[in-house]
Amino acid sequence: MSRATHAGTKQRAYDVKPLFAEPYFVTNIKDAITPKQVKLIKALKMHTNQVNQISDELYLFRRKEMRSISDAVHAALATFAKEVMGIEQALEVTQSWSLINPPGVGMHGHTHSNSLVSGSLYYTEMPDPPGNMIFERHNTYQQLELAVNDNRQNIYNAPRNAIVPKEGDLVLFSSKLQHYVEENGSAQNRHSIAFNSFVRGTIGSFRDVSELKL
Ligand SMILES: [Fe+2]
Repeated sequence: MSRATHAGTKQRAYDVKPLFAEPYFVTNIKDAITPKQVKLIKALKMHTNQVNQISDELYLFRRKEMRSISDAVHAALATFAKEVMGIEQALEVTQSWSLINPPGVGMHGHTHSNSLVSGSLYYTEMPDPPGNMIFERHNTYQQLELAVNDNRQNIYNAPRNAIVPKEGDLVLFSSKLQHYVEENGSAQNRHSIAFNSFVRGTIGSFRDVSELKL
């Protein structure tokens, strides 16, 4: 039974406006990837992670054979730094590695430490379904769980959001964002490259004694 005071409540006009927003950036760099590079990446010696496979090579983009891919990634990071983050400093890739999710395998939720912007590169053909990358709003334990009606979901209340990877896509996102990869529901391996980056240059202020040269 609803309370009488609410029964005749007038519905007034209102506005809902965004205070902040969380970006992710996507560009396609398929034209920078050669069949020879794809072959090399697929032939890398893999190490069994918790569930998926990760390359022994953890500085993949530093290999001279990866030059065109590394250049395209750094160009995208430069755009992201300037246009999205609005900063003067450059973003430089730190570690970079390849991943394979065999059929039935996904990747549990995680964030990337000691990195500002992370990325995923889907350097070769994706399986069907491609195994979405899911970003979660929170990365800490939430004591209060309020289920949101499916038909009321929007960017203000959605607990998670999916991005659907396509061949050649390069996705950049804040390293602090919790994300996971859906289980590979196909019969083919799901291939990707992941990387971290950090600012290069001077941050802070000399006079405010907050200067840090990186
Ligand atoms: Fe990740």
